[in-house]
Amino acid sequence: MNHTGAGVQKTEVSGTHQLIENKWCSLRQMEIATEPSNEKETNGEKKEIKVLLVDDEPFICDLLSRWLTSEGYLCTTSLSGESALELLAKETYHLVLSDIRMPGMSGLDLLKIVTKSFPDAAVIVVTAVDEQKTAIKTLKSGAYGYIVKPFDKSEILVNIANALERRRVTLLMREYECNLEWSVQERTAQVRAREEQIILRLLSASEYRDDETGAHIRRIGMYSSVIAQALGWDSQTVDDIRLAAPMHDVGKIGIPDRILQKPGQLTPEEFEIMKKHTEIGGCILDNSDIPVLRMAQEIALSHHEKWDGTGYPRGLAGEAIPQSGRIVAVVDVYDALIHKRVYKPALPEEEVLSILSDGRGKHFDPIILDHFMNLLPEMRRIRTQIREE
Ligand SMILES: [Fe+2]
Ligand SMILES: [Fe+2]
Repeated sequence: MNHTGAGVQKTEVSGTHQLIENKWCSLRQMEIATEPSNEKETNGEKKEIKVLLVDDEPFICDLLSRWLTSEGYLCTTSLSGESALELLAKETYHLVLSDIRMPGMSGLDLLKIVTKSFPDAAVIVVTAVDEQKTAIKTLKSGAYGYIVKPFDKSEILVNIANALERRRVTLLMREYECNLEWSVQERTAQVRAREEQIILRLLSASEYRDDETGAHIRRIGMYSSVIAQALGWDSQTVDDIRLAAPMHDVGKIGIPDRILQKPGQLTPEEFEIMKKHTEIGGCILDNSDIPVLRMAQEIALSHHEKWDGTGYPRGLAGEAIPQSGRIVAVVDVYDALIHKRVYKPALPEEEVLSILSDGRGKHFDPIILDHFMNLLPEMRRIRTQIREE
């Protein structure tokens, strides 16, 4: 350790000792003057404050320990950075007062480790006059203060009080931010759960009349979210399509039973009426400022559009069809063909995949179909997970 203050040599430990003691004594009156304001703290919280004093010079450790203990702090001393870390690992300290220049681990190294691994501890560094540049560097590295040798008791106490106050405010802010983040997350999750519940209620109303099962609409949501993820959508939008895609046929609520529940093929006139479910769904979900409902509206309107422009209701082609609608187009056909319906048996997967491949670049967006094919194992897993009731 370098105790060199103005004109004091490193080897003159006893001289330094005297210098510190003298300065301390000459300031006793000042300390006494400050005592009334400290008294309350001494009888209160301060007694609980644990300070770790790190200096390779036992005398400095003893001196600081005596000063601080008399002020009500609980002091532990350590003669090296290494042993200070061992103590910090075992116990929580509010404050670390560390010398910079020590054999082995320097105070700067100790500061860096404490700031990273024990962020609740405030660190004050103690430095010789000729190390002021280092001192400034330590402030940038997270020190709460620095004290220049030779120091006196009042400097130490003022620095400690400032550091502890800053630490208190920092911890409060950290806790506040953490609580705020937690409550925002909790609130978002609550809102999401409500949205999900409302959507499921709306869907269960339409399920009463439709041949399509609850399992089908849940699978459509899951398949769609898997493809959206593969397309690089952000996690929120991926979750939106999981909830929005099941609403693709919500407009069927406006289609008469004689058409909706007809067991055989529809006549051309009946099919024209059936096609209206896209626009009815679009109207039901129109003008919402909730993102998931806006996406659901887009899907309801566009899931029967075809890549080559021969779909309905608007005959959109290529990328003019919203991507969400292009995703649902693929997974809706896949799921409808592979499962049994009142008007048709279930088809073997091989046949379903061949129908889908025939529609590549005609009915289906080729890129989305390729993603779907690559993700087939995942699609099969969803089918096993969500079976027909
Ligand atoms: Fe549909
Ligand atoms: Fe469907």
